[in-house]
Amino acid sequence: MSPLSASTIAIVKSTAPVLEEHGELLTRHFYKRMFQHNPEVAPFFNQANQGAGLQQRALAAAICAYAANIDNLEVLGGAVELIAQKHASLQIKPEHYPIVGSNLLASIQEVLGAGATEEVIQAWGEAYQFLAAILIGREAQIYEEHRATPHGWEGFKPFVVARKEPESETITSFYLEPAEGGSVPAFKAGQYITLRVPSPCGHTTMRNYSLSDKPGNPWYRISVKRETGADEKTPDGFVSNFLHQHVRTGDKIEVGPPCGEFFLAPPEAPGRPLVLLSAGVGITPVMSMLLSALDHTPERKIFFLHGCLNSRVHAFRTQIDALAQSHPNLTVRYRYDGPTDLDRQRMDGGPVSEGQIDAELIESLIPKRDADYYFCGPKPFMVNIYHQLLEWGIPASQAHFEFFGPRQDLEKHRP
Ligand SMILES: Cc1cc2nc3c(=O)[nH]c(=O)nc-3n(C[C@H](O)[C@H](O)[C@H](O)COP(=O)(O)OP(=O)(O)OC[C@H]3O[C@@H](n4cnc5c(N)ncnc54)[C@H](O)[C@@H]3O)c2cc1C
Ligand code: HEM
Repeated sequence: MSPLSASTIAIVKSTAPVLEEHGELLTRHFYKRMFQHNPEVAPFFNQANQGAGLQQRALAAAICAYAANIDNLEVLGGAVELIAQKHASLQIKPEHYPIVGSNLLASIQEVLGAGATEEVIQAWGEAYQFLAAILIGREAQIYEEHRATPHGWEGFKPFVVARKEPESETITSFYLEPAEGGSVPAFKAGQYITLRVPSPCGHTTMRNYSLSDKPGNPWYRISVKRETGADEKTPDGFVSNFLHQHVRTGDKIEVGPPCGEFFLAPPEAPGRPLVLLSAGVGITPVMSMLLSALDHTPERKIFFLHGCLNSRVHAFRTQIDALAQSHPNLTVRYRYDGPTDLDRQRMDGGPVSEGQIDAELIESLIPKRDADYYFCGPKPFMVNIYHQLLEWGIPASQAHFEFFGPRQDLEKHRP
């Protein structure tokens, strides 16, 4: 890959502020154009994310960050890995890049109007190809890793639903085994797989689901929350309701290999505790981390803090309580922000209290604050935890998080 010329870098950097200003408009324009001109790529995208503007914002943020850092691409390392893992989970291939590239350039031209001189378009064309080559290269490695892993596979292959088990009123686990028999490849605790199911418009649609059991079992377990529409006008979540209502034990479903850069890393500093924080269905990846950490680091102090509405939607409680009983290194606390009357009666002296996971609770357990933190949950929860850790001076290398959707910029949001 030949490096970008100084003039290309200068032009791209000079357009960064304009892009920052019009970033979302540009990417909205881009998606509309691309789905009109190249409808064949639409099934790769989650239309609900498009509706909410989340994917546009994620792409706009990536493009702005790229333009601003084009002379110092190392700072984008983490972003490249996140995007490449997401792309690989959805089977994005090199032949798709020119489609995105040509629609993006046409949209830049349309949005910038007179500002989009031939020079600007040429520079952006080169810059796009440069970034595309980085992503394509990393994605090729990931596909190769999938093929090379024992029991691994590339693309989608049929799995059978071996067991379906409710974990709460809203969350159900699905145990998936390869339909052809045999075992499943190892994964890193915290990673997700991808399900591909027929969509109402006659195509297919894909969703990522975190693996909620520990690595090493002959199955993959996912635990899915049934998403209901916020009001009468909003449709219920398509795939989660399809899984809950229509998929039965014995049914086959297409599954893509484990991906993702949110996974439990070995402890860097001896004696540093592990803190697993979750809210709602965000419990799934940290559940896998908990099970894995108890097996592999039996001496390590682990704190598992989970928040949800109340006991009716509280998943995995029986299993986690049993683990806390049998593992003195594990401390468990739950917070309910809408407890039932019975929940309130049972709170005294137990692991449950009313409210949300907050700084006070974390500090009461880990007064020194120094720990490896992993967290997952809805956006307000993520924003609170992220800014709290930032305020405490916890370095980014000790604060790991996952969004159940396109990543949002936590820096920009204030609690
Ligand atoms: C890395 C990762 C890991 C994940 N792990 C898990 C997991 O372990 N468990 C889990 O349950 N989920 C997980 N998710 C989320 C999962 O991928 C799906 O997004 C989730 O199941 C909802 O999909 P759906 O098809 O049911 O809803 P969608 O049809 O995608 O809809 C999503 C939401 O938007 C609303 N909606 C739909 N259409 C519209 C519209 N036109 N206008 C306004 N609102 C609309 C729906 O009511 C719903 O609330 C994960 C996501 C990621 C990215
Ligand atoms: C240089 C080019 C590209 C850049 C910078 C880019 C950037 C991104 C970013 C930032 C995300 C969000 C990741 C996350 O937070 O989860 C994303 C997701 C995605 N990208 Fe790309 N991308 C590029 C090329 C492509 C191509 C060629 C395709 C193929 C059609 C594609 C399809 C997707 C899809 C389907 C998603 C997930 C969207 C969803 O959740 O609905 N991207 N990309």
